[in-house]
Amino acid sequence: MMRLDKLLCEMNKGARSQVKKAVRAGLVTVNGLQITRPEYQVDEKEDQICYQGQPCVYEKYVYYMLHKPSGVVSAREDGRERTVIDLLSGEGRNDLFPVGRLDKDTEGLLVITNDGQLAHELLSPRKHVEKEYECSLARALTAQQIERLEQGVDIGEKRCTKPAKVQIVPGKEAALIRLTITEGKFHQVKRMLQAVDNEVLSLKRIRMGNLVLDGSLERGCYRRLEPWEVESLKKLGGEAGCGQSGHI
Ligand code: URA
Repeated sequence: MMRLDKLLCEMNKGARSQVKKAVRAGLVTVNGLQITRPEYQVDEKEDQICYQGQPCVYEKYVYYMLHKPSGVVSAREDGRERTVIDLLSGEGRNDLFPVGRLDKDTEGLLVITNDGQLAHELLSPRKHVEKEYECSLARALTAQQIERLEQGVDIGEKRCTKPAKVQIVPGKEAALIRLTITEGKFHQVKRMLQAVDNEVLSLKRIRMGNLVLDGSLERGCYRRLEPWEVESLKKLGGEAGCGQSGHI
């Protein structure tokens, strides 16, 4: 159970003072009855709440998959630049944030949510959640460079990077690769390729844990995660050591 005005706020119907006013003005019904007391207790799972005649379905947490385009920053807000959250402004929510960061010039899979606990777990270094990137490189990788990346390279941090997995995309003469890492250090992929005397020309994240970038999502577009996708992310966040498969 929760207060009617709190629920309406969480559903982004306005600031607390605005929704209180709306309730007092008779704009809200609960199970068909007009309720004018903002403190009225509602059962958010069972009660049918309408605001200005429109049903409100209460959702505490929401989850989206965004195909981040290059040129927007992975932040909630930014004084100067367009952010990934600006791309979801049509959702009318003010509590969304990206799960982790992609560089401004990186594109691909980004989860956007208001579930702080899940975000925290997915980003925890202890969880070793796999992140897979498609990287276009300045030069083809040699077998030796691949071996170094797979063993871990010095990118100027205290420790070498954890072992990564490298897959060559066929037909591109080893200049297009898929790199899977289990950490999330600043500019990590670019720095790893630099460490083996190469250079990333473009970078796209295509997977995080079991969640694969939806091929039908155009750059800049997003969709809700399916319930099974949310569950698989939660499972991942809940499992320590996940992602340390044999080859990693
Ligand atoms: N590694 C990078 O270098 N950049 C990103 O955006 C993500 C991983």
